[in-house]
Amino acid sequence: MSQKILEIKQNIISCVKCDLCKTRTNSVPGKGNFQSNVIFVGEAPGRNEDKEGEPFVGVAGKKLSSALEKIGVSRDEVYITNVVKCRPPSNRVPTKNERDTCQDYLKQEISIIKPKIICILGNTAFNSILGGSEITKFRGKLVRKDNQYYFLTVHPAATIYNQELIEVLNGDIKKLFELIRDLKNDKEINIDIEYSS
Ligand code: URA
Repeated sequence: MSQKILEIKQNIISCVKCDLCKTRTNSVPGKGNFQSNVIFVGEAPGRNEDKEGEPFVGVAGKKLSSALEKIGVSRDEVYITNVVKCRPPSNRVPTKNERDTCQDYLKQEISIIKPKIICILGNTAFNSILGGSEITKFRGKLVRKDNQYYFLTVHPAATIYNQELIEVLNGDIKKLFELIRDLKNDKEINIDIEYSS
């Protein structure tokens, strides 16, 4: 494993920068292929992730894995992480302070992995990374900001009781990998939203 990723992982495991360290069982660093073309970014660990110390291992994670498997991609081929690395009690949405305190870890993960596209899963990640809201309105879109591409989709947890959203997630993930393929082949791609910083 990349030495730098290992260092970040250790720093996350021993992190005491905010009060979530007092209630967590385990912190949850990102996991996967550090040479991946894509990083998936969720909100924060839930109960199962807190127990196991790994991102997206619960029901929401199964939805993400299934969307990837449908297009022949295994979880090990990609890198999966969260905006906040420790579980907020009762799975509440992480506060602005918790998100701000944790943001350096995600920035470090991104700067080492240098993904072609960052896939934003749901509103919390959308708001934390790009200041956006209403993911259902913007999902399926490709954003460029500061020479980095972002792809927006719904949070896999939102699909748990919603068959229509499962189709949406599956379709978006398919589109994401088509975009990655085109970027790798230096093909022209359509940017839906250009953000200025
Ligand atoms: N939801 C998230 O946003 N992240 C996880 O790791 C699990 C559930």
